[in-house]
Amino acid sequence: MSLLVTNIGELTTQDPERRVLTDAAVVIEDGRFAWIGAAADAPAADEAHDAGSRAALPGWVDSHTHLIFAGDRSAEFEARMAGEAYAAGGISVTMDATRAADDYELTRLLLGRVAEAAAGGTTYLETKTGYGLSVEEERRHARIASSVADQVTYLGAHLVPPGADADEYTELVCTDMLDAVKPYAQFADVFCERGAFNEEQSRRVLSACREAGLGLRVHGNQLGPGPGVRLAVEFAASSVDHVNYLEPADVELLAGTWSGWDAAGATGTAGVVATCLPACDLSTRQPLAPGRELLDAGVEIALASNCNPGTSYTSSMAYCVGTAVLQMGLTVTEAVRAATFGGALALGVQDTVGSVEVGKRADLQLLNAPAAAHLAYRPGMPLTQAVFRAGERVDP
Ligand code: NIG
Repeated sequence: MSLLVTNIGELTTQDPERRVLTDAAVVIEDGRFAWIGAAADAPAADEAHDAGSRAALPGWVDSHTHLIFAGDRSAEFEARMAGEAYAAGGISVTMDATRAADDYELTRLLLGRVAEAAAGGTTYLETKTGYGLSVEEERRHARIASSVADQVTYLGAHLVPPGADADEYTELVCTDMLDAVKPYAQFADVFCERGAFNEEQSRRVLSACREAGLGLRVHGNQLGPGPGVRLAVEFAASSVDHVNYLEPADVELLAGTWSGWDAAGATGTAGVVATCLPACDLSTRQPLAPGRELLDAGVEIALASNCNPGTSYTSSMAYCVGTAVLQMGLTVTEAVRAATFGGALALGVQDTVGSVEVGKRADLQLLNAPAAAHLAYRPGMPLTQAVFRAGERVDP
């Protein structure tokens, strides 16, 4: 079965040449892009979809979310807006609520959140454990997550649960808990921050998870300067996420990991992606991550929603893209790349998703707008018109 999506007013491909085609069309076959070019030259297909001169771009790749949770923390958010500082300890409030939810409820909540993300144009999504914080609960959350999300990250090292000894808990994360979660996860992560895991504990977690064969990422430099970036580089992690408080040496270290990378051709050895989470930065009143500075230094960045009940309760990638353009100094092209190809790089799936290229999974979104620039030009407007994931419509 083949599908022709034609009469695309502006097609942002994010292919290696970063082509933007006008009056374009794509042909999708067996869930993959089979042909891309001028609408006038398009071959025939079994079915056709008229894009009505709208803009099309790759589906969003959301490379950082925490969607396995129950409960509500809006009171904590309100207190923050009244001047309280964000503290990692809030994670235990969600831990209690999530432990109390049965499998049916957690699956129902997760499916609802993934559907919301898809309705906003997200076609590839990572999610983390980290609200279980015991062997059985982390295993349960990872199992449920793996049945719905594209990728699962093991984040047993999210918080030392109240009452536990930090070093003993770290040991558990690196042994029994890791064994329990490993079958369901592709990556592991550690919240390396004051109030969560220190450098030594983080190093222990990263070593054990690497030995277990998981890819690595790090929550780093979110609430203050710290060793997160340094550790991510030392362990050749796929990404370091948050990156709000960077010293010049951190930027230099990250840039060094991209020296074997040809950004223009998107070829070579990928380095450590710096994942910026602007919705979280605004919701926690932290300085926005220095995306402009990182790009100027030659670092590939990703934009992700960080959807979670504590610091960023939105899965809107359009909101993140709009904020990155309006407040972080990125161009529209850079922000769209970071939210598509950049996310794919952070997840190590850049050969499969993140751009409109022949052979890649046919993940495509159409906007109710003639150009991608409208994402920032008309912030907050419901611009998603249609979403195709592997060639199938997934918007409501
Ligand atoms: O990425 N920073 C750590 N983890 C989440 C927040 C989790 C929470 O507060 O519930 C984040 O912001």
